Amino acid sequence: MKNNTKHPFLAASGSIGSLELKNRMVMAAMGSNFAGQDGKTTEQLEAYYEERARGGLGLIILETSAVSWPAGASMPFMLGYSKDEFIPHLQSLTARIHKHGAKVAAQLNHSGKIAQEDTIAGRPIPVPSIPKSERSDMFGLLTQDEIMNFIKAGGPDGKGPRYHELTTDEIQIEIQHFVEAAIRAKKSNFDAVEIHAGHGYLISSFLSPAVNKRTDEYGGSVENRARLLVEIISAIKKELTNDFPILVRLDANEYRIDGGIVPEDFLVTARLAEQAGADALDVSAYGNTSKGIAFTEAPLVHEPGGFLKFAQMAKQAVSIPIIAVGRIELNVGEQGLKNHDFDFVAMGRKILADPMLPNKVLSGQEHLIRPCIYCYVCVSQIFINQPMMCAVNSQLGNEHLHENIICSDANRKKILVIGAGPSGMEAARLLALKGHEVEIWERDRDIGGTVRIAALAYGPNGRLITYLANALKNLKVKIKTSTTATAQNIAEYKPDHVIVAVGANRDAPEIQGKELRHVFDGEQLRGLLFGSDATAIKKLSLFQQLIIKIGTASQLLRNITVLTLLSKVWMPLSKNIIIIGGDLVGLELAEFLIERGRSVKVLEPSVSLGKNLSIVRRSRVVHLLREHGAELLTQVNIREITKDGVLYEHAEEVHLDQADQVIIAMGANPNLSLSNAIKAQGIPTSTIGDCTSVGYIHGAIAEAREAVLDL
Ligand SMILES: Cc1cc2nc3c(=O)[nH]c(=O)nc-3n(C[C@H](O)[C@H](O)[C@H](O)COP(=O)(O)O)c2cc1C
Ligand code: SF4
Repeated sequence: MKNNTKHPFLAASGSIGSLELKNRMVMAAMGSNFAGQDGKTTEQLEAYYEERARGGLGLIILETSAVSWPAGASMPFMLGYSKDEFIPHLQSLTARIHKHGAKVAAQLNHSGKIAQEDTIAGRPIPVPSIPKSERSDMFGLLTQDEIMNFIKAGGPDGKGPRYHELTTDEIQIEIQHFVEAAIRAKKSNFDAVEIHAGHGYLISSFLSPAVNKRTDEYGGSVENRARLLVEIISAIKKELTNDFPILVRLDANEYRIDGGIVPEDFLVTARLAEQAGADALDVSAYGNTSKGIAFTEAPLVHEPGGFLKFAQMAKQAVSIPIIAVGRIELNVGEQGLKNHDFDFVAMGRKILADPMLPNKVLSGQEHLIRPCIYCYVCVSQIFINQPMMCAVNSQLGNEHLHENIICSDANRKKILVIGAGPSGMEAARLLALKGHEVEIWERDRDIGGTVRIAALAYGPNGRLITYLANALKNLKVKIKTSTTATAQNIAEYKPDHVIVAVGANRDAPEIQGKELRHVFDGEQLRGLLFGSDATAIKKLSLFQQLIIKIGTASQLLRNITVLTLLSKVWMPLSKNIIIIGGDLVGLELAEFLIERGRSVKVLEPSVSLGKNLSIVRRSRVVHLLREHGAELLTQVNIREITKDGVLYEHAEEVHLDQADQVIIAMGANPNLSLSNAIKAQGIPTSTIGDCTSVGYIHGAIAEAREAVLDL
């Protein structure tokens, strides 16, 4: 397998202390909420990890787990290491991972001030010093449903967390919890432990000068603040000797936290951890979670390779292996390994999106890796105490259901999929994998559906279409573009089953003035940018029409990457734009326009902005838009679009705001006419994606799976 790889350094074996790893690809720790409420593993959790081990990883670092469970837990469904009764369950998990040649480390943690489960239960929360309370700017952006998930977090008396400043004797008890947990991890056949000393949890609260205000030997200098970590490492080493490696996850920086950890502190702590016996450092970072955007600066870094600089610094400062993490692209990881900038590449979201990534890297099939689109759905689920999901991988969390049964020749069907958007393409992919004969018909001359415009607004979305196209090509699924499906030509094709994935009807709602020359609805905007909607193009000036004609004739407007670049230089959109509609489409569009120097105002009729964006992505987008001066109004009653702008009511006042152009980013409705016509012919039909209910990428992918399973 390795012979075909384009990434020999990622494919090369490596070691951490006494632990030999078959390659340099590591799964970063990720809380899943798949454990039982009793702190034990579940079939769902075990199958989820087994699938990732099967995918070829060298090392899996298990999700955050509570050393003194139920105390110190940050999620309702979190693994515990505090009792011997956990051991047989953990043994079952490690055996399933080992079966596939992967090694596994337990991530040992006490969530400290973030121990939500302690707040809910009314237990005192151990901290180095009482932290300042800060209101999260995410709260204002939550929908009603999401708020309901936070209500319990007020605790039994609704007063929030009860912090308890640890005495030095109590610190020794906490150290002992880590040691006992490590002993249980070893008994459970883990290959190593990772001490979680980052992300605002107990150990990092000691490390962070912003939280740790102690005046005893555990506070003050970096050495004193690192004392708890050093004592934990030393105590575990003493008990378990050198054949049980200890990894340490550290924050190299704390973003948007006044007086927080800075890289200089981190390097001192890194050296102290090495001296105490740590066998590897896993270099992460943290951001102030009460600032919506900070979470996408760290730990879930949005900037590709955003923490690599810290890994490089650590590599210079210590001689133990360095694990780099944080949106690391394969080529960047490969180059970094080659340059000895770090020794291992940990991946989080990429492994959620495609657990088979390592095997695809090893076999030179990178083009078949399902990409993460950085939509933050996975982690937003954890924020609202729900099980993890992945927008592009509907199998995640369903691995235990063993539903990927390949069909036998006997029930092989001829299936026609109408629509080459994400849901149609994903359904076709799954059907072809199951062994059915599949063909896709697409009305447009290009595949991708609305994701083409979504890709323009948010680049990572485009990778999904590229992947699905590659996967379908690999499975030899025929895609006929520029092919309009009718009940008649479908009947002539004689399919055994039809899957209709034609997308939503995107008619703008009835707003007075919507027909004006400077007003575009979602469908027209798409046609305008891709040069394919004659009516929308006619609304432009002659000069603009000419440029679009040239772009269309030269085929330039068909390529999303080219179009993205072109749109930074020229776009047929004016300076001052009002967007009516502040859900996913409106906000992503606003982000796209702001990045291209337009002045934007968003008018949303409902109470919530971006309710179909995941909480974390929503917080990021809203923060960036506001930072760039975009005005975002909710509870707006639109009265009329005039030739100069928009007349609307807000906060009991009537406003007339000027705009050169108005975009209506609302009005996606179910579109069942084709599927009803096919059904009327007696042909078995399933309807999926936005044409049933608008569910965006996550909904589209999930519905494709459901339809294929129901077949
Ligand atoms: C859903 C989710 C849960 C996470 N939970 C943990 C966790 O339990 N422990 C931890 O140290 N980091 C956690 N992280 C951070 C990841 O380990 C990783 O550092 C981060 O996602 C950046 O890597 P990536 O860009 O490859 O995803 C989590 C990340 C995600 C996406
Ligand atoms: S949910 Fe979104 S961000 Fe998370 S792994 Fe999947 S695609 Fe990536």
